[in-house]
Amino acid sequence: MKIFLFSLMCLFSSVAFAQEILTPVISVNTRNNTLLFKVDDKSKLRQCYYGEKLPEASFKGVQTTAADAYPAFGTSYVHEAALRAVHADGNTSTELIYDSHSVKNISDNIEQTVITLKDAYFPFQVKLFFNAYKNENVIEQWAEISHQEKKPVTLYNFASSHLFVSEPTYYLTQFYGNWAEEMNMAEMQLTRGQKVLQSKLGVRADQYDHPCFLLSLDAPAQENSGSVIGGTLAWPGSWNLTFDVDNLNNLHIISGANPYASQYILKPNTNFKTPALLYTFSEEGTGNISRNFHRWAKKYGIYRGDRTRTTLLNNWEATYFDFNEEVLSGIIKDASEMGFELFLLDDGWFGEKYPRNSDTAGLGDWMVNKKKLPNGIGYLVNESHNKGIKFGIWLEPEMVNPKSELYEKHPDWVIGQKNRPLDLSRNQLILDLSNPKVQDYVYSVVDNTMSENPGIAYIKWDCNRFVTNSGSYYLPASEQSHLWIEYVRGLFNVLDRVRAKYKDVSLMLCSGGGGRIDYATLPYFDEFWISDNTDALDRIFIQWGTTYFFPSMALASHVSVVPNHITGRTTPLKFRFDVAMSAKLGMDLQPKDMTPEEKEFSKNAIREYYGIREIVQFGDLYRLLSPYTNKRTAMMYVSEDKDNAVVFSYLLKKSINGNTQPLILKGLDPKKNYKLTEVNKMPGSYSWFTPLEGKVYTGEFLMKYGLRFTMYNEYDSKVIRLTVQK
Ligand code: DGJ
Repeated sequence: MKIFLFSLMCLFSSVAFAQEILTPVISVNTRNNTLLFKVDDKSKLRQCYYGEKLPEASFKGVQTTAADAYPAFGTSYVHEAALRAVHADGNTSTELIYDSHSVKNISDNIEQTVITLKDAYFPFQVKLFFNAYKNENVIEQWAEISHQEKKPVTLYNFASSHLFVSEPTYYLTQFYGNWAEEMNMAEMQLTRGQKVLQSKLGVRADQYDHPCFLLSLDAPAQENSGSVIGGTLAWPGSWNLTFDVDNLNNLHIISGANPYASQYILKPNTNFKTPALLYTFSEEGTGNISRNFHRWAKKYGIYRGDRTRTTLLNNWEATYFDFNEEVLSGIIKDASEMGFELFLLDDGWFGEKYPRNSDTAGLGDWMVNKKKLPNGIGYLVNESHNKGIKFGIWLEPEMVNPKSELYEKHPDWVIGQKNRPLDLSRNQLILDLSNPKVQDYVYSVVDNTMSENPGIAYIKWDCNRFVTNSGSYYLPASEQSHLWIEYVRGLFNVLDRVRAKYKDVSLMLCSGGGGRIDYATLPYFDEFWISDNTDALDRIFIQWGTTYFFPSMALASHVSVVPNHITGRTTPLKFRFDVAMSAKLGMDLQPKDMTPEEKEFSKNAIREYYGIREIVQFGDLYRLLSPYTNKRTAMMYVSEDKDNAVVFSYLLKKSINGNTQPLILKGLDPKKNYKLTEVNKMPGSYSWFTPLEGKVYTGEFLMKYGLRFTMYNEYDSKVIRLTVQK
C-alpha cells in the first residue's frame, strides 16, 4: 500500500535532505495503521503517509511530500485551505510552521499526539490533535485554534483535518437520502476538481446527506479486499467534506464544520475547537472499516456501549396523536404480554392551553394533557411497572410551535430574523440554543419531566426541522454567523447536564428519523432512530447503509403494520420481524389490531430475539450479499469468541425457479464445528432450510462451500443460528 504520492525529491538539495533527517518524524500508530508526518527543511509539517502499519525503522525511507498537514490560506498551495484567518491587522494570510509536538497515553488503548503549529509572524497557533485508538484502528483528529493578537481574528475556514492521499484512482462512496429514505449509497470515481458533500441545515443536519464516506483506492470498493479509508465527522451541525483531486492527481480530503456563512470572530486567548473526524484504514475492504467503527463505537462512541439494549413497543404508528389513558393502558398490557421490556409513549401527551392533538400546536408546553391522561404520566409509569416493563417518553425539547404558551411568553427565544415572516417547517420553530437561558429551559424540560414522574427509564429525543431564517435574537449583530457553531455548543451543554444528572436513563437519538446521527452526539445516547420508514424492504437498504459506520446494537428497528403507513407495501409479518431482529428489535403498532395468530407469532419472535440478541448486539458484522447487487441479500454476526453466529437472509424478489445463491459465511473459526438451527420459523409452513436443520459443519466448510438453501418467494426470510459444538 502506498498512499503517498508525489515526493519533492527533485526540489531538495542534498543539504536539505540531510537537514530533513534531523527534523522530527511524527507518527500516529494504531495496531494496523500508520499516519506519518515529517517536518521539512522550511519547518513545514507535511503529511507523508497514511495506510497499512509501517515499522518504525522504515520511517526514514518515507519521502517528504508537499502536502501541508493543515494548509493555511495565503501560504499553502493547495486548492482548498483547511484554515483561513484574517488577522487583527487585516492580514489575510497565515503561515503555519512546526513548533513542537507531544505524545501521551490517555489509556492503555489510546495514545494522543498533539502537534503545535505557529504562525511565522503572528502570535497565532493551531494544535492538531490525534487520538489513536490502537485496537480499533481508529484515529480521531481535530484542531484547536487560538491566538494572542491584540484584537480578535476572524476565522473563515476552520477544518478538522486535511487528509492527503496519492493513488492513481479514487472511488468515493457517499451516503445520502431524505426523510424516510435515509442512508442510500452511491459510489463514483473522483475526477479532477472537487466533489463536495455538505450540509447547510444547521440542525437536523443529516436529513439529506450524512457526513460519512468510504474512499476506495485504485478500484471500486470491495467488501473483503482492497485498500479503503472510511471516515465520519463527529458533529451534529452543518458540515463539509471536500474531496479535491489536484493537478497532480493527489487527493485532499478536507473535513469539518461547514464554514459556509459561519465566519467566527475569535477573541484573544480563547480556544476554538473543531469537531473531530474519525477515520480508519483497511487493507481488506469495507467489511473491516465497519467492524473497526463498531468496535470503537461500543467502547467510545455510544453511551454505555457495553450494555444490552432493551426491546420496546412504541405507540407512534399505533395511535399517532389519538390516544387516551385507556388506549395506552391496553397497549402497555399487550406489550408486556408479548414480551417487550419497555413501553415508549410518543408525541401528543402534553399541552394545556394548546393541546398537542396534531403537529400544529402545543410543542414547547411540556405539561400533561389532562383530557387525554387525567392521572398524568405517573399513572402510565405505574401501569408499566405493574405489568413488569419499563416506561419511556418522547420529548422534542429544542423546538416550539408558535401556537404554544412558550412562544407567547418568549417569542425571542426562537431562531429567526427580524423583519422576516416566521418560516415554519412541520408548523414549528427551533429554539435558539446559543442563548444560555434557552439552554437552561431545554435542560429544565428534561429535568422536570424526569423529576415530576419518577421511574421514567427512557427518553426519545426528537428534532424535526432544520434551520432557515438563521438569525439569533441573543447573539450580537457582529456574531450572527456564530449561530451554527454556538447552537451545537449549546446542545452539548444541555446534554452534558442531562447526563451528569441522569446517568441511568436510556436516550434515543431521533430527528424525524435519521436526521441527526453522529459520533459527537451518540456518546450521550444509547440508541438512535434511523428512519420513520418502517417498511421492512426499505429498511434492508437503510440499515445496510447505516451499519457501515454505526453498530446494529444502537439501531432501533421496529415491526409495524401492513400496508406500511409510508410506502403502502405489504410484507409478511415474519419478514418484518426478521429484518427488525437483525438490529435492535422494537414494535410500532397497535397490538389489539393483530389476530391471535399474529400475536402468538410476535410473542415467539420476541422470545427468539432474546436468544440471539447478544450475538446481534455485540457480535462482529459481516456483510455477505448486498441488496444493491443481488436479489437475495444476507449478513451475519459472529460473537467475539467465534462460538456463536447468526445469519440473516432475505429474498427481495420472487424467484420462480428458486434462488440458490450460496451464502459464503465469514468470520467463523475454520476449525470449529457449528450446528445450524433455524430461528423464528413460521409455524405450519414448510421451510426450505429443513434439510440443513441440526446439521453440523466446520467453519472452514461454511466459509468455503457456504450455506446453501433455496428461497422462492418475494420477502422470504431466514434467520439461521450457528452454535459451536465442543
Ligand atoms: C418524528 C419521529 O421520527 C417519529 O418517530 C415520531 O416520534 C414523530 N416525530 C412524532 O412527532
